[in-house]
Amino acid sequence: MKLKRHFIRIKVRRNLIILTAALGIGVVLCTMQSCKKDSSPAKQTLYDSLGGTTKVSDPANSGTMIEKGRLGLRSVVDSAIFVIAADPEINGFFQTLLAEVGSNNLTGFTALSKNLTDFFCVATGAKNFTYGGKNMHDAHDPATNSRMNGKADSGDFDAFVADVVTAAKKNGLSDQLIGQVGVVIYSVKPAVVQK
Ligand code: HEM
Repeated sequence: MKLKRHFIRIKVRRNLIILTAALGIGVVLCTMQSCKKDSSPAKQTLYDSLGGTTKVSDPANSGTMIEKGRLGLRSVVDSAIFVIAADPEINGFFQTLLAEVGSNNLTGFTALSKNLTDFFCVATGAKNFTYGGKNMHDAHDPATNSRMNGKADSGDFDAFVADVVTAAKKNGLSDQLIGQVGVVIYSVKPAVVQK
């Protein structure tokens, strides 16, 4: 009887040890998991790959700083406007803008550059900017944007993309980054192509 009680006590003690060890391991694993969750780095956006929020001096505005990601996108946008302006396949759509620039009025160019840059910043993951222009359908419908000279078809869209790629290459973007910008551009195709 005494021996039986002795064995039961040993068994209970052994089970307690196993239970405590299991709980201990559980707590350690849990902690490790939650640590992993907390310290996992935020997902790298395309905006980050383009330079992100690191501030650099703005070559176009002396004495001001600009986020590197925004500078990269603005450089591509401004080059693209020039490439498009020289492209007879689609420059007719930008008649108003080209006439203004021809008479030294840069108001429309500055507004378009800002809106396009804001649009691409937001679309590529920037957090410190907002897009305040028209939605993509209204911006490309002559009924809601008198600066859009006609409706664009799929061929016009492809010509526009080719011009943006030329501009991106001029600014030293890698093929990989250009591919990622292409994904953003093609996401708006259904809204832009209205013919
Ligand atoms: C490929 C993707 C495209 C994007 C992301 C895009 C984006 C934009 C944005 C953000 C604006 C400014 C809207 C505003 O200020 O409210 C704009 C205006 C305009 N877009 Fe597009 N666009 C695209 C394709 C095209 C295409 C294919 C054409 C014609 C072939 C085109 C012609 C224009 C014109 C004419 C304007 C007005 C320019 C001005 O203010 O004088 N866009 N676009």
